[in-house]
Amino acid sequence: MGKKYEQFYRRSIEDRDGFWTEQAALIDWHKPFDQVLEYENPPFARWFVGGETNLCHNAIDRHLGERGDQKAMVYISTETGTEQAYTYAELHKEVMRCAAVLRGLGVGKGDRVLIYMPMIPEAIFAMLACARLGAIHSVVFGGFAPASLALRIDDAGPKVMVTADAGMRAGRVIPYKHLVDEAMSVAKTPPEKVVIVNRGLDKDMPLTKGRDLDYARLAAEHEGEDVPVTWLESSEPSYILYTSGTTGKPKGVQRDTGGYAVAMAASMKNIYCGNAGETMFTTSDIGWVVGHSYIVYAPLICGLTTIVYEGVPVRPDPGIWWKIVQDYQVGVMFSSPTGVRVLKKQDPEYMTKYDLSSLKHVFLAGEPLDEPTHSWLTEALGKPVIDHYWQTETGWPILTSAPGVEETPVKFGSPSFPAYGYDLKLLREADASEADADEKGVVAIIPPLPPGCMTTVWGDDERFVTTYFSTFTTKLVYSTFDWGIRDKDGYYFILGRTDDVINVAGHRLGTREIEEAVQAHPNVAEVAVVGVNDQLKGQMPLAFAVVKDSAQISSEETKVAQEKEVMAKVDAQLGAIARPRRVYFVSALPKTRSGKLLRRSIQALAEGRDPGDLTTLEDPAALEQIQEAVKT
Ligand code: PRX
Repeated sequence: MGKKYEQFYRRSIEDRDGFWTEQAALIDWHKPFDQVLEYENPPFARWFVGGETNLCHNAIDRHLGERGDQKAMVYISTETGTEQAYTYAELHKEVMRCAAVLRGLGVGKGDRVLIYMPMIPEAIFAMLACARLGAIHSVVFGGFAPASLALRIDDAGPKVMVTADAGMRAGRVIPYKHLVDEAMSVAKTPPEKVVIVNRGLDKDMPLTKGRDLDYARLAAEHEGEDVPVTWLESSEPSYILYTSGTTGKPKGVQRDTGGYAVAMAASMKNIYCGNAGETMFTTSDIGWVVGHSYIVYAPLICGLTTIVYEGVPVRPDPGIWWKIVQDYQVGVMFSSPTGVRVLKKQDPEYMTKYDLSSLKHVFLAGEPLDEPTHSWLTEALGKPVIDHYWQTETGWPILTSAPGVEETPVKFGSPSFPAYGYDLKLLREADASEADADEKGVVAIIPPLPPGCMTTVWGDDERFVTTYFSTFTTKLVYSTFDWGIRDKDGYYFILGRTDDVINVAGHRLGTREIEEAVQAHPNVAEVAVVGVNDQLKGQMPLAFAVVKDSAQISSEETKVAQEKEVMAKVDAQLGAIARPRRVYFVSALPKTRSGKLLRRSIQALAEGRDPGDLTTLEDPAALEQIQEAVKT
């Protein structure tokens, strides 16, 4: 840690109130807060108590005077060939209209609105319109299948759903509305109204009279209506975002309002070095936390221009990201290791032919960044590439360097140091004592969690405590469920998850969820899903299934057919992002004598490593089968 950053960090821990009072001045408050932190009921923290603010006001209205004519958002779709910029004044108008539409449908403070949309401007209008009304948005990633969408509908209980006829990916139309209808038919508490942005991509879009409404028509009806901002007390919820864990049921990460706004503004200044008037390009999707924080809220709260990109990194050619950087003078870029690995395989010409002089830093997160990719991008760009580590739960970086405070040397493969505000420790699993330098430990945060982090699990306070704060019985600490290690220079490295979560191209998936989907196949009796190394995507799921009736897979042909059927089940329940690379059929799964599945051993064998201690193994033949299976 550099001296200056160390001081900054220390102050954030030792003079917490003073530190965060200063950061809180980066946003607008309708009413000032009375207390920086209320922490009477650990681990539940309330930041900026008594203060009133609004995310939409901070993201739009407060800029209108000074930068009404500046671009707030540039939408670029290489799928439809569209490029459209919105100034802050125009964005304000669009969001007002959208808020008027939602208000007209009875949406008000505290109501949930489910947003299931491709990367189009209306998705962002809808998010900000919810924020304006004090409604709680729950954005569900468009790649999730109907069953996953239904699960999230039932948990959030939305009044209204906002969707589109279709999205597009790599030139292929993805019919969103069809998927929504499927989800609505299985959901127990489907929303009363579905608002559809009709892009004209799906001519066969089905419509349900009385329930399905056309956004353009409603927006025209509400043209020019004034929708004042609904001021919220700082700890009132702004949004829910679902994420996967060890169980099959995703958790709704609940975020507050004031703490999140402050965290966003502070991170833009101290970490991302983004200034008002500059452009930020985050290559994520609004369905993920990176999209919420760094496509929508942080850049807009800080008066930047944000790029909303619908498309893949290699179309029309692998230079598209760099062309965008040149054309829009991007200053801050945020992407993912998988995205960079995709481009690494291409001709470097695609990068070097563009003028990238506007770019200050590139930030990468979401999955482990391997050293070769880190050094390759740094050299190819000639700019600092910053690996930083965080989670849906935290909403902003946990481990990072903070060039806005001090530029510190980058170590390839390391996300540097604890971010200010996080009292971070590496704890020994056995007794929660602190690990030494170069000793592996669980990455843990001593609560209270800083502003911007999740405040609870939606509708389930108890689950918040039992999931995140119960790893150690002797200490109340937040577990990230990641292993980490710190070297002698104080740089941290992430070594992988402590639980059964896997990370496929930056998408976080629970192996339990995939197992449940595989088990939906009528011939599957039992299954184990593990994540294995993948050169491009970091990890991929592999499934090992025991069938009920082996006659159904007696020939090579029927085996292949059944493997396809199982994959189709996963596609239908979770979406193609969770599809196993292979489904192997075995007659037994390796278990301990007490019946516990030996996942780590299965994973090790599948990756060609030593399976470890097998003294408790019930049936050695089961393990041999795994070994044989992965050879095919
Ligand atoms: O295992 C860590 C991995 O991704 C998890 C969080 O994923 P998600 O909730 O989707 O949030 C992503 C926000 C950027 C973490 O628990 N992870 C994230 N960033 C890194 C990482 N692993 C290694 N290095 C990283 N930089």
